Amino acid sequence: MPLPVDFSQQVKSSTDIVRIIGEHVRLKKAGNNYVGLCPFHQEKTPSFSVHPTRQFYYCFGCGAKGDVFRFVMETEKLSFPESVRRVAQRSGIPIPASEPAGEQASPERRLRAALEGLHQKAQEFFRKQLQSPEAAAVREIIRKRGLTSEAVEEFGLGFAPGSGSALANFLSRQGFPPDVLEASGLVLRRDPARDPGGFFDRFRNRWMFPIIGEAGKIVAFAGRAMGSDQPKYLNSPETALYSKSHVLYNLFRARDTIRKEGSAVMVEGYMDAIAVFQAGVRNVVASCGTSLTEAQVRMLSRYGSEVVVSYDPDSAGVAATDRSLALLLEQGMSVRVLRLPGAMDPDEFIKQTGAEAYRDQLKAAQPFFRYLASRALELHGSNTPEAKLAGINFVLPFLAKVPNKLIRSELVADIAQKMDVNTGIILDSFRRAGLERRAAVHVSQQMVQIPPAEAMLVRLLLENRDACGEMSKLLEEHALMEELELQGIVSTILGMNSGGSAPDMAALSDRLDEPHQRLLAQIVFDKDARPVSLYEITSYINSLERRRLQRQRSTLRRQILEAEKLHDASRYVELLGQLDTVFRREKELDTELDTLL
Ligand code: CTP
Ligand code: MN
Repeated sequence: MPLPVDFSQQVKSSTDIVRIIGEHVRLKKAGNNYVGLCPFHQEKTPSFSVHPTRQFYYCFGCGAKGDVFRFVMETEKLSFPESVRRVAQRSGIPIPASEPAGEQASPERRLRAALEGLHQKAQEFFRKQLQSPEAAAVREIIRKRGLTSEAVEEFGLGFAPGSGSALANFLSRQGFPPDVLEASGLVLRRDPARDPGGFFDRFRNRWMFPIIGEAGKIVAFAGRAMGSDQPKYLNSPETALYSKSHVLYNLFRARDTIRKEGSAVMVEGYMDAIAVFQAGVRNVVASCGTSLTEAQVRMLSRYGSEVVVSYDPDSAGVAATDRSLALLLEQGMSVRVLRLPGAMDPDEFIKQTGAEAYRDQLKAAQPFFRYLASRALELHGSNTPEAKLAGINFVLPFLAKVPNKLIRSELVADIAQKMDVNTGIILDSFRRAGLERRAAVHVSQQMVQIPPAEAMLVRLLLENRDACGEMSKLLEEHALMEELELQGIVSTILGMNSGGSAPDMAALSDRLDEPHQRLLAQIVFDKDARPVSLYEITSYINSLERRRLQRQRSTLRRQILEAEKLHDASRYVELLGQLDTVFRREKELDTELDTLL
């Protein structure tokens, strides 16, 4: 549920970032700042800095940076709204009621709210039906498949009767209006010519799996056919509540474990997810009746950075593994692949050989590059140079998706060894295929020299909004922006300021390139920084102008000599006039400084 728009600003300004970060990182005071060991990369000497008043952290080792929300998002794997809530709670700030859900709410919100209620009711209905005499056969199937009654309870399994309109009638009696019924996708309109206003059930004679969205509410259902009816699984259509490419089955139950372990297990089927969960592996998710999508991977990556892909060993499963691998690698996930021996899917494997056997298999799942190397060998063999080349061509597109160059080159070496080819050959094909990515920006540990007065200027601009107006006038009037070493930073601050917003460190930093982010952090976290002196800044800007005037002067002198040689009298006079203006401006500058003293 969305929070009021300016709530995050309110939370941010009344939160002590040092206290929140201090819960994760041991911080020591250094000047006006705090420093500690960076939680985002391995280090022995602290380069992670937190600024209490600028509400900002920056790591001089790895470049991690942001405000308190970013920190909580990254360390606790939360979405932005979740992190705002979390920080508000920790700071004791009451969370305002969300947008009105009643009369004033937008029609979409009202529909969604109605659909949530409807799915809840439908779930109660399906569960109750599972206890009915008609469902005896289903209960038997469920039992035979090895589902415990706890699992049936936990996963909310139910039964959709075969009568044709049992759910539709039930929901109508519950008072859901026809347009809401239709929008739910759980029932379908009958032919209006024959039966106006009539509905029939989408799911008939199926056992039902509720699908839970990220917010913990039921957003859709899947129905498993009883015998060999087709299709084997029937899913809810896309609705205002449900977009199948954005939901992962079981994520809601799995996410705490995924957070804790940093890792998720990905299976293909609903039954696999339940069986694996029952086997004590609680971080299991499945994509719902589709191949894995980018949106699902992004969602998953908020909770953990490793995925073990445990798909069916059949050819469809292997193809799906390849597709998912590419997607997962692209999103920077670290991936392992579990290939179960034999022809059983995870559910069958667990039933046949036991939970422990499956957990052992999981532990032994190989890193994706080993898996790829064996796939390449299977597909193409390694007897001839052509076969090896084909194998390399199979592997390369996957490697190209690994964002980290260092990891990538290690992978190349590993795969080369497994495929028994020279590392150079793979690297070479890489380059020829133009697949080599741009090297990651290397953040050097070294500090750059910044003119102290410019650093002071930047600090002044960050602290004092009025100063921004004056300084931008001064710099523009005398065209001095280009003279600044920190032009990029200063012009960005002034640009943001003219938009009326006080410069926010996190937002400002986001607009800069990496070298400038670092320079800015260096200025803000300089613990030896002297207090801002207007005199020093003005005299510096003065000196910049002087420097410019000097350059102009020597150019003018040269041009005057040329004009003399060419006996170009009018040009000569004009240039002399310009030189005079330069002289006069230099005089002015002297007195300007004197008045400041
Ligand atoms: N699926 C689907 N629609 C189908 C078939 C499959 O949406 N007609 C999806 C379901 O999410 C299903 C998954 O693909 O769980 C895997 O399909 P499959 O391997 O055929 O089924 P199992 O999960 O093994 O189901 P069961 O064990 O009940 O046969
Ligand atoms: Mn199965």
